[in-house]
Formats: sequence, C-alpha cells, structure tokens
Amino acid sequence: MAAEIIKVKYLPELRAVANLADQIWHECFLGIITEGQIDYMVKKFQSLDAMIKQIEEQKYSYFAVRDDGDLCGYFAVKPEEDSRFFLSKLYLRRDKRGKGIASQMLGRVFEEARRHGKKSVYLTVNKYNDRAIDIYRHSGFDVVDEAVTDIGEGYVMDDFIMEHVL
Ligand SMILES: CC(C)(COP(=O)(O)OP(=O)(O)OC[C@H]1O[C@@H](n2cnc3c(N)ncnc32)[C@H](O)[C@@H]1OP(=O)(O)O)[C@@H](O)C(=O)NCCC(=O)NCCS
Repeated sequence: MAAEIIKVKYLPELRAVANLADQIWHECFLGIITEGQIDYMVKKFQSLDAMIKQIEEQKYSYFAVRDDGDLCGYFAVKPEEDSRFFLSKLYLRRDKRGKGIASQMLGRVFEEARRHGKKSVYLTVNKYNDRAIDIYRHSGFDVVDEAVTDIGEGYVMDDFIMEHVL
C-alpha cells in the first residue's frame, strides 16, 4: 500500500514531525558529523520554533509521511524566487527504508515543484552521506556544485548541491 503524504497544517502535527526529526537525525548522522553538531543542527533547523519560523517567514512547507498510519518520515520544500524548487529535507525512519517510500516522497516533491511552475528541484546533501547521494543520483539528481556553510559555534556544513531538471 502507498504511504500517505500530507502537508502539515496544524501545530500538533508539526510538533510530532519535530520529535521524529530529533530521532532520525541522531540516528542517521552519527558517524558523519559529531553528536554535538547533530544536537546543534536539530535545535537550529528542526526544533518546533525553528520550523514555525521557516513556515511563517521563509515560505517552507512541511509534509508528513505515514505508513499504515505510523508517522515515519517527512520532507520540507520551498519555492525559490527563480525557476528552482528547494528540497530542504527528506527523512525516513530507519525501519521504513528500502521499501520505495522515498521514491514516493520524491515523486510528490516533483509534483509540488511542477505545481509551482518550477523547472528544477535542488538540494544540499552532506558530502559523506553516500547512501543518500546514491539514491538522489538514482532519482535523477546530479551534483552541480558544492558548498561549505558556516552555521555558527564552529560548525560547518560540507555539502554537495544536487539538482534534478524536471
Ligand atoms: C534518504 C532516504 C529518505 C531514502 O529512503 P529509502 O527508503 O532508503 O529509499 P527507497 O527505498 O525509497 O529508494 C529510493 C530509490 O533509490 C533506489 N536506491 C536505494 N538504495 C540505492 C543505492 N544504494 N544506490 C542507488 N539507488 C538506490 C531504490 O531502488 C529506489 O528507486 P526505485 O523506486 O526506482 O526502485 C532514507 O535513506 C533516509 O531517511 N536516510 C537518512 C536521512 C538522510 O540521509 N536524508 C537525506 C539528507 S539530505
């Protein structure tokens, strides 16, 4: 059965996504960045307050993913001023991976991008997140650039920028 993907509209749902983000980020980034950096990034980007700001001030939309009613993943997107659509986050809890749910999520991202009249979808991915990079390549993304971003407190994000032309 297909996973259910629904735009997050209400605070309790967003709170549940924030809790899920905390869980997934601590599991998936261990070994890629330090635990201190994970804590810092979760607080800065995925705390409930941070997510509310992104939605209210920066045109982000969050989508929740449920498999058999179980909230297990989420993604966030943002239309840019130019012809690009930004896929800001794409996360699925470990026990739900490898079942094609991410492909459904990406399909919905492409649909949303087209609905906004955009010509491409781009994202940033940690250079050492090999599995995600392979999956993005498989899904039609190519590396178009790289970026080292200072996020404060001595931490940087060392990313590839990948783009999928619709
Ligand atoms: C990235 C993530 C969402 C992908 O979810 P997933 O369930 O593992 O992915 P899926 O099983 O749906 O696979 C997606 C597609 O990639 C393919 N794929 C899976 N692993 C692959 C690999 N190692 N190499 C190439 N293709 C691969 C699948 O076959 C599928 O394609 P298909 O639908 O054409 O068959 C998930 O692994 C995750 O949450 N990872 C941790 C968080 C993370 O790193 N997010 C990205 C941050 S930028």
